[in-house]
Amino acid sequence: MNRLGSWKRNTTAEVMGVGSESPTDPLAGTNAPTDDREETLLEVRDLEKHYPIYGGIFRRQTGAVRAVDGVSFNVRAGETLAIVGESGCGKTTLGKTVARLLDPTGGEIRFDGRDVSDLDGRGLKSLRRDVQVVHQDPSSSLNPRRRVGSIIADPLKIHDIGTDRDRNERVREVMDRVDLPYEFRTRYPNALSGGQKQRVSIARALILNPKFIVLDEPTSALDVSVQAKVIALLKELQEELNLTYLFISHDLSLVKNIATRIGVMYLGKFMEVATSDELFENPRNPYTEQLLSAIPVVEQEEERLKPARVEPRGEPADPANPPEGCPFHPRCHKRFDACDKVYPELVEVDPGHSVRCLLYPGDKRAAVDEYSTESERRELRQRDELNRQQPVQDGDNTDRPG
Ligand SMILES: Nc1ncnc2c1ncn2[C@@H]1O[C@H](COP(=O)(O)OP(=O)(O)OP(=O)(O)O)[C@@H](O)[C@H]1O
Ligand code: SF4
Ligand SMILES: [Mg+2]
Repeated sequence: MNRLGSWKRNTTAEVMGVGSESPTDPLAGTNAPTDDREETLLEVRDLEKHYPIYGGIFRRQTGAVRAVDGVSFNVRAGETLAIVGESGCGKTTLGKTVARLLDPTGGEIRFDGRDVSDLDGRGLKSLRRDVQVVHQDPSSSLNPRRRVGSIIADPLKIHDIGTDRDRNERVREVMDRVDLPYEFRTRYPNALSGGQKQRVSIARALILNPKFIVLDEPTSALDVSVQAKVIALLKELQEELNLTYLFISHDLSLVKNIATRIGVMYLGKFMEVATSDELFENPRNPYTEQLLSAIPVVEQEEERLKPARVEPRGEPADPANPPEGCPFHPRCHKRFDACDKVYPELVEVDPGHSVRCLLYPGDKRAAVDEYSTESERRELRQRDELNRQQPVQDGDNTDRPG
């Protein structure tokens, strides 16, 4: 039973502080099916977040860190979209920007059908009722000088909701829901374990009864056994409260069981997006293969699915100075002649499975052909044909042309 159900979830109109009339939808008329659009809670189009770099004696802008660089995706109500990738690929920046803790540099964010890209002031405060963030390290995200009860009640005070008695009751309710004894309300965060602190962060995120939560590496600061309990709690909460998650992690194996779909990020872009099962069983992008091949396995079945071990080459490039062509080419074990010259688009290779890689050139076929040898072109065409007939074989690492 939904123990938090007594708290009415705010309607979009209330949250945004606007009337009920529906504005013209700029995405109407795209090829998104109507049913999908009705279920879609978050729509992100060509999102960019660039951090300016200043230099010289006049401190002029000399460049920009392209932390998020043209990312598009939808998140349906009730699902978990996981974002994975190595340190510095832009996961936290993406999460904070869609939650509007950061202002986007470009692109569009639509939440519950409304454009929230440019909200500020009251509009942004209203969005907080529906969109919350749980940060990576509870030790630094919880104020050590405030008691747990007051930290959890904070969003209610900020939004001026309820009397003191109502708030205490609500704090009791959410603490109970995240399995924290109510007596802990008088403690300071430093008197709690890592797992308990993260439960405080989750309780604080839940207190306004949001629809959408960005979970930024919510378990990476915790021991493995505690990690499992927190993940189990998040899954339970999602089911009971119909929550939608953006789950950020550098660990593909961790997200396998919680994610509905997974987006693999590299240098501020998605390299591959697929359902969790599809990504593990049929990875198409060489970067995804490298990440998967590095996961330790315990069961024979997992070993069968895992791509052959591929040692990653070097470190990710500087997002202020990304490489020409495919951003991954300096480290790719399948690179061929076109890879440092042609920029690959994200191409849907199967329904719901998109890949950024010139092995699946999409509209870039002519450009790839221009830089490929005759034998590479022949192999790419044979590969296209094979893909049309059957999916790539599990663990197949033999598809590099040339
Ligand atoms: N406030 C900032 N100003 C300038 N550059 C920043 C800022 N915050 C992040 N960056 C840079 O943006 C890029 C993406 O950082 P981000 O923290 O989003 O990556 P991440 O994938 O979350 O990494 P991690 O796994 O280490 O948390 C990095 O190159 C980082 O150095
Ligand atoms: S485009 Fe080339 S370099 Fe990039 S992932 Fe594909 S094979 Fe590798
Ligand atoms: Mg991060």
